[in-house]
Amino acid sequence: MRPLRAVALLLLAAAAAAATATPWAGSGQEPGSISKDDFPGDFSFGASTSAYQWEGAAAEDGRTPSVWDTFAHAHAHAGDDSVNGDVAADGYHKYKEDIKLMKETGLDSYRFSISWSRLIPKGRGEVNPKGVGYYNNLINELLDHGIQPHATIFQYDLPQILEDEYGGWLNPQIIDDFTAYADVCFREFGDRVTNWTTLNEPNALVSVGYDAGIGPPGRCSKPFGFADCSCGDSVNEPYVVAHNCLLAHSSAVSLYRRKYQVLSFH
Ligand SMILES: *[C@@H]1O[C@H](CO)[C@@H](O)[C@H](O)[C@H]1NC(C)=O
Repeated sequence: MRPLRAVALLLLAAAAAAATATPWAGSGQEPGSISKDDFPGDFSFGASTSAYQWEGAAAEDGRTPSVWDTFAHAHAHAGDDSVNGDVAADGYHKYKEDIKLMKETGLDSYRFSISWSRLIPKGRGEVNPKGVGYYNNLINELLDHGIQPHATIFQYDLPQILEDEYGGWLNPQIIDDFTAYADVCFREFGDRVTNWTTLNEPNALVSVGYDAGIGPPGRCSKPFGFADCSCGDSVNEPYVVAHNCLLAHSSAVSLYRRKYQVLSFH
C-alpha cells in the first residue's frame, strides 16, 4: 500500500467521524424528529469499544502487556496516563456503571473486544481464570440488562510475548495461535455470545502497523512510512500480514462452524 492510499483511508475515517458528529447537517431535519420507530424493527442500536481503549487494569489479575502497551509507553511522556491504556476508561472496574448508562441510553447491543493477553497471558497455552471471570461477568451483566453482547476477538492488541517470540502477524505461526485463542473464546463465552467478529479492521492493522508505522508494532520503511522507521519493510510486510490475517480469520471461522455453530441452534 502506498502512503497516498493510507492518507485517503485516514481522510475517509475523518469524514465518517464528522458525518457521525453532525448527522442532521444538510438533511433539513431537526434533531429529535427521528425516532427508533423510523428504523426497521430488527435494527440494533449499539455502541462499541476495544479492550485497550476501555478496560484499563493493564497489569491486574494476570494480564500481560500487548503490543499496544509497549507502543503507547514508548511514545508517551512518562507518568502521563492520558496517553496510554493503563487506566483508560477503567471499564474493568466500572463495567456495571457503564452498562447501566447503556441501558439508560436505550442501547440494544454492545460490541466489546477481548484482550488476548488477559485471557491467555502467555499468548498460548494456559487460560487465566480471572480473565474468563471478567468476561463472564461483563457478558452476564449485559444480558441481565437486555443488551446483546457482540464480541470482537482481536482488535490490534497482540500479546507482546508473541511479537517478541516470532514476530506476531508476520509469522504464519500466528494462524494456529489465533485459532487456539478463538477456540477458548468460543468455548467459554459462545453459549451466550452469538455475534462474533474475528479481526477488527485488518486493513488498519496492516496500513497503520506495517506500512505507515504510526501504530503498533510500528514497523515501516522509507519512503512509505510516516514514522522514524527503525525497523520494517513497507513494500513487503503489509502483504504478508494481510495474508496471515485472512488465513487466521478463515481458520477461526472454520473451527467455529465445525465445532460450535450447531450448538447455537439448541
Ligand atoms: C446478533 O445480534 C443481533 C442484534 O443484537 C441479535 O438480534 C441476534 O439475535 C444476535 N445473534 C445472531 C445469531 O444473529
